[in-house]
Amino acid sequence: PGFAAVVVAAGTGERAAQGLPKQFAQHRGKPVVRHSVERMLRFGADPVVVAIPKDEQERAEQALAGLPVQYVFGGATRQLSVRAALEALVSSNPQMVLIHDAARPDLQGEVVSRLLAALERTRGAIPVLPVVDSIVRALGQTMESTARREELHRVQTPQAFRFADILSAHCDWSGEPDAGDDAQVLHAAGGTVALVAGDPRLAKLTFAEDFVTDQPAIRVGQG
Ligand code: CTP
Ligand code: MG
Repeated sequence: PGFAAVVVAAGTGERAAQGLPKQFAQHRGKPVVRHSVERMLRFGADPVVVAIPKDEQERAEQALAGLPVQYVFGGATRQLSVRAALEALVSSNPQMVLIHDAARPDLQGEVVSRLLAALERTRGAIPVLPVVDSIVRALGQTMESTARREELHRVQTPQAFRFADILSAHCDWSGEPDAGDDAQVLHAAGGTVALVAGDPRLAKLTFAEDFVTDQPAIRVGQG
């Protein structure tokens, strides 16, 4: 069955400090967002809605020239940008939707297949990577306790949902202004979220150095 996609590209990219929102910066020969959207189209997403900053319409349309996408203006937080894009999908009423960060340009088809397969049995599915280092809680600079690494996972996008479920969960969201991610929003509304294997290539371009080397830098506090 078919699936729609939301690509959120309405952030300002402060940490990347590229002189323009990072999703429009060049990366391997193309604007970052063009990679993300082209992959979604290649893997069969239809329709594709892209959330863009209100004051960057020209740049966004230039970056995505010739691609069959629908634009919406994003909001002040990622959660509001996702919500605006989901609302734009109501008229097409897809069964499933993948929600993806524009800032993760190297999407692999295998990840999409795993997500869609998992969605047969749950309301949501997310790609995760294992945590390899130990994780400690600290008060200031003093270690407090050690977390159980086996229970922890690093979460990526795209995240896959039944459209009706994630739309209503976003419209009902009353948690922090900026939800950590869409799985958190669905989970808060009582939905079950399955984990599938993520991919290191899906790392999010976040800091300036992510644009000068091929691999995202390892940084404390990267989120
Ligand atoms: N995003 C969005 N609308 C917002 C904030 C973020 O659509 N109001 C998008 C970004 O464009 C990005 C994705 O959400 O593709 C993940 O967010 P993040 O990596 O934090 O990007 P920015 O918020 O733009 O960067 P920073 O936090 O460094 O300012
Ligand atoms: Mg941000």
